[in-house]
Amino acid sequence: DAAEKGGYEHYMLKEVFEQPEAIKNTIRGRIDLNRGTAILSGLNLTPREIVDIQRLLIVGCGTSMNAGLIGEYAVEDFAAIPAEVEQAAEFRYRNPIVGSRDMVLAISQSGETADTLAAVREAVDKGSLVAALVNVVGSTIARETGRGIYLHAGPEISVASTKAFTSQVSVLLMIALKIARSHRLSREDGIQIAKEIERIPELVQEVLDINDQIAEVAAHYANYDNAFYIGRGYMFPVALEGALKLKEISYIHAEGYHSAELKHGPIALLEESMPVIALLNQGPGQDKSLSNVAECKARKAPVLGVITAGDEEARKTCDHVIEIPACPQYTAVVPAAVALQLFAYHVARIRGCAIDQPRNLAKSVTVE
Ligand code: G6P
Repeated sequence: DAAEKGGYEHYMLKEVFEQPEAIKNTIRGRIDLNRGTAILSGLNLTPREIVDIQRLLIVGCGTSMNAGLIGEYAVEDFAAIPAEVEQAAEFRYRNPIVGSRDMVLAISQSGETADTLAAVREAVDKGSLVAALVNVVGSTIARETGRGIYLHAGPEISVASTKAFTSQVSVLLMIALKIARSHRLSREDGIQIAKEIERIPELVQEVLDINDQIAEVAAHYANYDNAFYIGRGYMFPVALEGALKLKEISYIHAEGYHSAELKHGPIALLEESMPVIALLNQGPGQDKSLSNVAECKARKAPVLGVITAGDEEARKTCDHVIEIPACPQYTAVVPAAVALQLFAYHVARIRGCAIDQPRNLAKSVTVE
């Protein structure tokens, strides 16, 4: 067992640290820097089919759904075609409106999640283009869709998903880039995005390098019963995923909220014993997020900010900070998510939780 964990105390920590390598494996051979696009032959789409895609509908559960939300932002941002995320469990009970020019993308680490599989079958029946983003080779969802992209992230043992999430996000950025280049994006802009995607493993490594600092910060937040995570834009799904990680492994009640929604209810709960973890890195709307944090501070809530390295203004606004490297928002989601994985890990470790086997949770949920 100890050997399998490669010297790490838990599979989760091992898998968090494997992320630079996992993401390299995910993007290897799939970026065409010269043409500024992605090569995703597993999607099995003709150039005509790609041009004809008029909407992307992403389905998944749990962490995979959170990755999908980032994909939604990227597809609309790069390709300017509508994208939506539907909770897989809702999909087939809602008379989903999908046709032959809609691509349904199912995201599942295991490829066995019952709700996601049911959504895939429904989408196939409706005649839409169905593709899957799966980690486990030969899994049911991979087989039933016939079109798809394997993550190549390597086996994920820890129940709380980490490297699968960041690999999923990396693939979603490549899918968005590919669709965008067939729709509206120039070669130059495509090359820029492709280069940024190639930097993701380095960005993650920079966060892993400050693991000790993150552990120190986590010690200040390990004894609360609740936490709010807030973010906007691309960082909103990261807030959801950060909160999910914390509740899964530390059993602290955590909620992810859009920064702007805080004042529509949750702010009523803010006081000294309700910490706020704010995604505050530099990007559109950062000024507004900083004033949201000031509102939290005015209610005496302790604030931990995930900020861009060297951003003194953001640092001053928070009680504690974790720094992530400067990069565009669409790739910053990855180092920000890794910072929150490590934060959740250390909080759970300090609390003495069974990190790799949290109570009541299963790695893959095969009943609806
Ligand atoms: C379970 C796991 C989560 C995972 C979700 C979806 O709830 O505990 O970590 O995100 O299933 O799993 P999938 O394999 O479909 O990505």
